Amino acid sequence: WGKEGHIMVCKIAEKYLSEKAAAAVQALLPESAGGELSTMCPWADQVRWHYHWASPLHYANTPEVCNFKYSRDCHNSRGEKGMCVVGAINNYTEQLYSYGKKTSYNLTESLMFLAHFVGDVHQPLHVGYAEDEGGNTIIVHWYRRKTNLHHVWDVSIIDTAIKDFYNRSMDTMVEALKMNLTGGWSDDITHWENCKNKRSTCANDYAIESIHYSCNYAYKDVEQDITLGDDYFFTRYPVVEKRLAQAGIRLALILNRIFDGDEADG
Ligand code: ADE
Ligand code: ZN
Repeated sequence: WGKEGHIMVCKIAEKYLSEKAAAAVQALLPESAGGELSTMCPWADQVRWHYHWASPLHYANTPEVCNFKYSRDCHNSRGEKGMCVVGAINNYTEQLYSYGKKTSYNLTESLMFLAHFVGDVHQPLHVGYAEDEGGNTIIVHWYRRKTNLHHVWDVSIIDTAIKDFYNRSMDTMVEALKMNLTGGWSDDITHWENCKNKRSTCANDYAIESIHYSCNYAYKDVEQDITLGDDYFFTRYPVVEKRLAQAGIRLALILNRIFDGDEADG
């Protein structure tokens, strides 16, 4: 996601943090965060070219198939295993379990990476096809503006929604998503949170969901140089809303499990 997507995911997550998790997050956040996790959630993109090694950790790609297999797909360009968004989520989660113990990890960075990557694994095209770099090489027009398919899903759909539905206010969109979570989606949350893995996360499942959304929505009926407008926007926007909300709920779930200890495991 772009900056706004990441901020919205983390604003939702903040609302669902347990007391202990909220306290741990406060303790780990840098001064510049102003006490809000959401302000730090775009950080991993800002350092993407400085932390060169971390660039492949934002995504995972498949060999043009609509399924995700960790052993086949989770690696960087040098073939190092685990160097993808799923491996990164599990790795930074594991690091954060050392909170309160003696550790050599920079847990502030672990938290900021984790919060960012849980957002990214829910952006469908962050689990796309390697051949087109998750839609980055598919040039399209978004209404009259030239862009690429990856950017449409990172930014343009959200921007258009904020402009057309929410009076140009991201905060109004976040409020609408939160309302949905206590209304229409309230019965879905238990399913979204269903994760049997004890100490690891279910990031692998979230990646499988994303490649399915990529095939069935993002790539569907799209070809090089096509113009995408109302038809595409109105059919894909609900997927974007749902993925932002799911990412927020699941980030809170992961953080609550880490910081609440075993007894309060939901
Ligand atoms: N670069 C290459 N593949 C990518 C993807 N799926 N998402 C974001 N950046 C990428
Ligand atoms: Zn990213």
